[in-house]
Amino acid sequence: MNASPPRILVARRLTPAATERARRDFDAQIVEHDLDTAEVMDALRQRPVEAILIGPKVRLDAAAVAALPDGLKLIANSSVGYDHMDAEAARARGLIVTNTPDVLTDCTADLAFLLLLGACRRAHEYEAIMRKGWRQGFGMPDMLGVRPSGKTLGIVGMGRIGRAMAERARGFGMRILYHNRSRLPADLEQGAEYFADLHSMLPHCQILSLHLPGGQAGTLMDAAAFAALPKGAVFVNTARGSLVDEDALIEALTHGQLFAAGLDVFRKEPDYDMRFAALPNVFMAPHMASATRETRDAMAMRALDNIAAVAAGRGPIDPV
Ligand code: DGY
Repeated sequence: MNASPPRILVARRLTPAATERARRDFDAQIVEHDLDTAEVMDALRQRPVEAILIGPKVRLDAAAVAALPDGLKLIANSSVGYDHMDAEAARARGLIVTNTPDVLTDCTADLAFLLLLGACRRAHEYEAIMRKGWRQGFGMPDMLGVRPSGKTLGIVGMGRIGRAMAERARGFGMRILYHNRSRLPADLEQGAEYFADLHSMLPHCQILSLHLPGGQAGTLMDAAAFAALPKGAVFVNTARGSLVDEDALIEALTHGQLFAAGLDVFRKEPDYDMRFAALPNVFMAPHMASATRETRDAMAMRALDNIAAVAAGRGPIDPV
């Protein structure tokens, strides 16, 4: 890239501070709405750029990557996950691909823990009762949740977010088990018990929380995996919907294999499977794990940092 401000396409709406920076530091086309893949391709045809800043709405499979114009050098994802694109195909074309790790770790773990607590303690059901008008008291055996404190939590994927989840769970006196590609060193493990095999861990998990990137081959949580959990377990997913067989999850929630689920991600987003909405034992959010002012600002800034670093010839901060 050269000394004049890099020409970029910001294909996703950013926070006000990041938008201002994009205007100030770059020769940027700033969009009014989040572009989809076809709109990005169209914008690139009309105005060639050196870098694009995208979100998960822009799906770049191998064919879309092949269709990207030649002058493009960098695809800066403003998310930690990049399963919406074929990063390998992009790299093979000589494109640099970046993401935004670290900055959303705490917020994602916070929301995962909120979903865990809400699912265990029926937070959404209690809230709905209050909003409808609480007119009748509940007896001792009515509307009971399960106590999260002291439970055994299984974490699948012990990267940054998985470890942040474990940190929160320790404050609740939970026993922590984890499944990961490889065992962590003791200073990162902090007493969590490693299972090389997921299916050996599942029968011990009263609560299970997923913290893996998407784009895995195959479905991790299928009917056999849900059946392997202890009856009445709680399932939490803030990772990716593609990790889960949703028919199997709904079946497990309907027939009592699971007590409840806390879900931030779905196979189809935003038009998710409405059968979830009919289940009282699902506490859910519309993929909002990173949605705090501070974190969304940090994610957008980090994506711009990556563009600036590449433009200055320093190389990407967060190559994937
Ligand atoms: C991420 O950054 O991957 C979050 O899921 C938000 O898209």
